[in-house]
Amino acid sequence: MLVDDVPFTHLTAEKVESIVTALKAGVSPREIADPAGHASSHVEYVDALVESNIRQAGAVFFSEPTDPSAIVADIVARHPEEVIDATSVSKLRGRGGAGFSAGLKWKLCRAAPEETKYVICNADEGEPGTFKDRVILTRCPEQVFTGMTVAGYAIGAQEGIIYLRSEYAYLLDYLEATLASLRDRNLLGERIGGREGFDFDIRIQLGAGAYICGDESALIESCEGKRGTPRVKPPFPVQQGYLRKPTAVNNVETFATVTRIMEKGARWYEAMGTNSSSGTRLLSVSGDVDLPGIYEIEWGTTLNEVLGKVGARDPRAVQVSGPSGECVSVAKDGGRRFSYNDLSCNGSLMVFNQQRDLLGIVRDFMHFFVEESCGICVPCRAGNVELYNKINLIIGGRAVEQDLEEIRNWAKIVRGASRCGLGTTSPKPILTTLESFPEEYQSKLVTQEGPLLASFDLNAAMEGFAVASQTLLPEPTPEKARMQEVSK
Ligand SMILES: Cc1cc2nc3c(=O)[nH]c(=O)nc-3n(C[C@H](O)[C@H](O)[C@H](O)COP(=O)(O)O)c2cc1C
Repeated sequence: MLVDDVPFTHLTAEKVESIVTALKAGVSPREIADPAGHASSHVEYVDALVESNIRQAGAVFFSEPTDPSAIVADIVARHPEEVIDATSVSKLRGRGGAGFSAGLKWKLCRAAPEETKYVICNADEGEPGTFKDRVILTRCPEQVFTGMTVAGYAIGAQEGIIYLRSEYAYLLDYLEATLASLRDRNLLGERIGGREGFDFDIRIQLGAGAYICGDESALIESCEGKRGTPRVKPPFPVQQGYLRKPTAVNNVETFATVTRIMEKGARWYEAMGTNSSSGTRLLSVSGDVDLPGIYEIEWGTTLNEVLGKVGARDPRAVQVSGPSGECVSVAKDGGRRFSYNDLSCNGSLMVFNQQRDLLGIVRDFMHFFVEESCGICVPCRAGNVELYNKINLIIGGRAVEQDLEEIRNWAKIVRGASRCGLGTTSPKPILTTLESFPEEYQSKLVTQEGPLLASFDLNAAMEGFAVASQTLLPEPTPEKARMQEVSK
């Protein structure tokens, strides 16, 4: 829960009541959340508000601190192309969802024929169930900013922007203080690491609470001060991004990983994981588990292994990568491995036990997409509403077999014709549960009897008519109203 910009967690009815009582007594949200009154630029303040809950640190995150000075000194002694080559050798793929090669992205950006270039860190983290970037920014922000600086050096940029989701505004002062400390140590600013001509600084851009602004081109529009709507691609951001200049947009985890790769070596990193998916990945685990929180796993780990670690309770389904990902069946898919070739995961893992109402969850996810569609293209704006209506029809026990066929057809249109990744993934809550749990749908279908479509609800239609006809009646005059009262 957010009160102004202050987050409150672990909510219970009693806790909410005490918060409301304090607010009514004039105590500020900040004082309630952090009674010790820490400075908002200190990590103690951040920790007082939201806990990090790191359950399993790994080779890349949280186990040992990084030394930005040593890393910067090392990279400025190398040619920028060597830095890009090292990133390519590590086989690091973007951690924001699409899994594009980080080295190749930087190579394309460096090669783009423009003098001015930009680096953007995508800290929008809007996918429901994802909270790993928040924890990285809390526990090791220097690792992220150093990764951005490495990218700036590699592609030849002078400015970096970190786009922070509005719900993370409570991190703002802390992150500004971290940037100031890096400037003090000449790790940002002019002649970084003593290297003539290497000038690079980072500014923070706060989002305004739109999921669509996680899409890199909508994010760029938002950074430019415009409404966050996705651009038509091509051109891609590496060709024309922020202010139409070549821009490398990467996820928080991607930048932080780059820092570790520069520190420990590309071969060291590449040796972990699998052939298609090198290294490790952070999972934000929530749902019906005993130990929710952050886990660093090596790619190649199976779903069952992770479920064992997190203490999953009687799990039936796992939503991998949030609503835009896939809903898998533990019984059928437990042996699948996390990798870009199999269970590719953007960091969100929600576990649902046998008692959960899966169709209700699907309906909530579709509602999320209806709310978050930016509306710029018709297939996404209208198609998601159609799909949302269909799932309601199914839940209401008024759908027939033909509705499933129509769902598949709508999904094809939304996925195939939408402008951006929101529409190409939004039908997935329905499609993947249809695939993994067809019985959930089949048990709700009815067979059509008589001339009326099963989907046609006569009572609801008449109710609407009654309301509409009432509103058409003229207001009674005072005289007539009194007469009506008397006659009653
Ligand atoms: C609707 C939508 C939301 C997205 N949200 C995020 C996000 O919150 N964080 C993120 O890093 N990438 C997000 N992405 C992916 C970005 O567009 C982009 O691929 C990513 O930031 C590139 O970084 P990477 O190569 O390091 O993964 C989103 C994409 C779409 C279509």
